[in-house]
Amino acid sequence: MDHTVLINCSPKKKLSVSGFIMKCAGLMVRGKKEYLHLRTPADRERILQALKDAGKVVFAVPLYVDGVPSHVLPFMKEMERFCLENGLRLKVYVIANNGFIEGRQNEPLMQVMENFCARSGLEWCGGVGIGGGVMLNVERIMITVLFGLMILNMLLRGIQGENILEPVRSFGISVAELLVLCCGIIAFTVRLALHISKGTDAGKRYTRIMLPSFIFILCADIFFTIISVFQGGFFRGWFSRFKPDAGCSIITGKDQ
Ligand SMILES: Cc1cc2nc3c(=O)[nH]c(=O)nc-3n(C[C@H](O)[C@H](O)[C@H](O)COP(=O)(O)O)c2cc1C
Repeated sequence: MDHTVLINCSPKKKLSVSGFIMKCAGLMVRGKKEYLHLRTPADRERILQALKDAGKVVFAVPLYVDGVPSHVLPFMKEMERFCLENGLRLKVYVIANNGFIEGRQNEPLMQVMENFCARSGLEWCGGVGIGGGVMLNVERIMITVLFGLMILNMLLRGIQGENILEPVRSFGISVAELLVLCCGIIAFTVRLALHISKGTDAGKRYTRIMLPSFIFILCADIFFTIISVFQGGFFRGWFSRFKPDAGCSIITGKDQ
């Protein structure tokens, strides 16, 4: 069957790297496509029903604690039962991405997915593991900002009667530089999309953002310092008393 279901398995509502790569890959996949998001238990049934008409499924998964995110595992259990009961023989592809720089860190996740296919009677067709995935968010934000600056620059130049194409040229150069950093990701995503279209085995491939590790770590440190200042505050939690929330209780020996 030429129907492909692509599942974004990130719990994030916005700015999900998995969702972004999934959409990019999906653009190159031929045939009927259905994009779905697995965030909460309420999403599971809709996805399972979509699988009934599909021939291929693509999981776009972020790496959490060196494995599959915990909200995806119960879905995989349900899917295993569903596929066995309905005799589904889907071809399964995986696009994994992680925060650290090495794409190979996704190997345990890939193995979990391969074992899941073996148990569920599905056909494991491989995938791609991408290191430094968070940089794709940095890049797309930068491209959006640069685009806005280009438009502003063109307007100002237009008013002053100067060459309005100069900002387009420098925007093009900046975008090209950013794309070079993703050349491995682009190449392997295109390759995977071609395999998905043909329904052939893609094997496992690993790539990463093409930045030397020491520069990546420096960028990540700056990024997380800024995030922690905005989201964590300066002194929050230094001297606070422990206040258990309503849903949290400590089980003592007496309770058992
Ligand atoms: C709870 C949690 C655990 C994570 N564990 C890892 C990890 O073990 N290794 C790693 O390289 N990145 C880890 N990351 C980073 C994510 O894999 C990374 O940010 C990824 O790009 C998120 O993709 P998403 O935007 O699609 O959710 C973790 C992130 C979170 C929130």
